[in-house]
Amino acid sequence: MYRIVSAIFLAENIKKFEIEAPMIAKKRKAGQFVIIRIDQNGERIPLTIADSDPEKGTITIIAQGVGKSTRELNCKEAGDSIADVVGPLGTPSHIENFGTAISIGGGVGTAIAYPTAAALKEAGNYVITINGARSKDLVILEDEMKAVSDEAYITTDDGSYGFHGFVTQKLQELIDSGKKIDFVLAIGPIPMMKAVADVTRPYGIKTVVSLNPIMIDGTGMCGGCRVTVGGEIKFGCIDGPEFDAHQVDFKNLADRNRIYQHEEKEANDTFAHECNLTRQA
Ligand SMILES: Cc1cc2nc3c(=O)[nH]c(=O)nc-3n(C[C@H](O)[C@H](O)[C@H](O)COP(=O)(O)OP(=O)(O)OC[C@H]3O[C@@H](n4cnc5c(N)ncnc54)[C@H](O)[C@@H]3O)c2cc1C
Ligand code: FES
Repeated sequence: MYRIVSAIFLAENIKKFEIEAPMIAKKRKAGQFVIIRIDQNGERIPLTIADSDPEKGTITIIAQGVGKSTRELNCKEAGDSIADVVGPLGTPSHIENFGTAISIGGGVGTAIAYPTAAALKEAGNYVITINGARSKDLVILEDEMKAVSDEAYITTDDGSYGFHGFVTQKLQELIDSGKKIDFVLAIGPIPMMKAVADVTRPYGIKTVVSLNPIMIDGTGMCGGCRVTVGGEIKFGCIDGPEFDAHQVDFKNLADRNRIYQHEEKEANDTFAHECNLTRQA
C-alpha cells in the first residue's frame, strides 16, 4: 500500500497528492508517469509524476476527476492509501539546451508539462510558459510555472484572467512578434495539441506533444496504448508518451480514446449512485 501524505484541491475537480513511493521518487525523470490502482477492485490508470522529493521519499501526482477512477481517487485524503503505484514508466522527456523553449499546458496538461518545463529551464533554455484554462478558477500551478519560466502567460477562454483566448492565439502572437522559437512542448486535450502542431508546422518549429492513449499495463505488453506516428505504430507507454507533434495521427488517437465511452459512462453513473448512497448512510 502507498500512503497519501497530503491531498489538496488546486481547482474544482483537480487534486494534488503527495504519495510515499521512495523507489519511484529516487528514479523518476521529467516526462515519466505511474500507473495506479486505487484498490483491489480498481482499474489501472496512468498519471504523470508532476514532481518528487527523493529525500522525503514522495512523488506528486495531480489528477482531474473526469470519470469513475479519477473521481474515486479525488475522494482520497491524507492518511488514506492507494493499493498499487507502478513506475516510473515511459521514456523520459528529451531535454537539451534548444535555445528558446515554449511549454504549453491546457487544463490539467499544465501539471503534466510542469516537470518537463522545469527540466528545460535547468538545461539552460530561455523558457516561456503558456498555460490555458477555461476560466480563472481553473488556473493551476501559476506560481510553480512562474518559478521555472523567463516569461509566463496565462490564457483563459472567457477572458476572466490573463490573455483572453486560446493558447494557440498566444503562441501565434509570440511567433508574429519575431521571437526566435526553437522548441515547443504542448500538453492538453487532443484538439489543443493538434491545433498547436498546426500553428508550428509552417514555421518548422520542433514540437513535441505528450499523448494520452488508453493504457493498461503501461510496460509494453499489450499494445492497448498504440498510436500512429509518422505512419508507424508506436506504443505510447514505452516509446512515448512524448512524440513529434507533426507526425502524430491525432484523429486515430481521438477515435481510439472513445472506444469505451459507453462503459466509462456506466461506471461513472454507478459510482455517482454509490457515492450518494454512502453520503446518505
Ligand atoms: C501517460 C499519461 C499520463 C497522464 N497523466 C495524467 C495526469 O497527470 N493527470 C490527469 O488528470 N490525467 C492524466 N492522464 C489521463 C488519465 O489517465 C485519465 O483521465 C484517466 O485514466 C481517466 O479514467 P477515469 O476512470 O477517471 O475516466 P473514464 O470515464 O474511464 O475516462 C475518461 C477519459 O479518459 C481516458 N481514459 C480512460 N481510461 C484510461 C486509461 N486506462 N488510460 C488512459 N486514458 C484513459 C479516455 O480518453 C476517456 O475518454 C494521463 C494519461 C496518460 C496516458
Ligand atoms: S499499455 Fe499495454 S503496451 Fe502500453
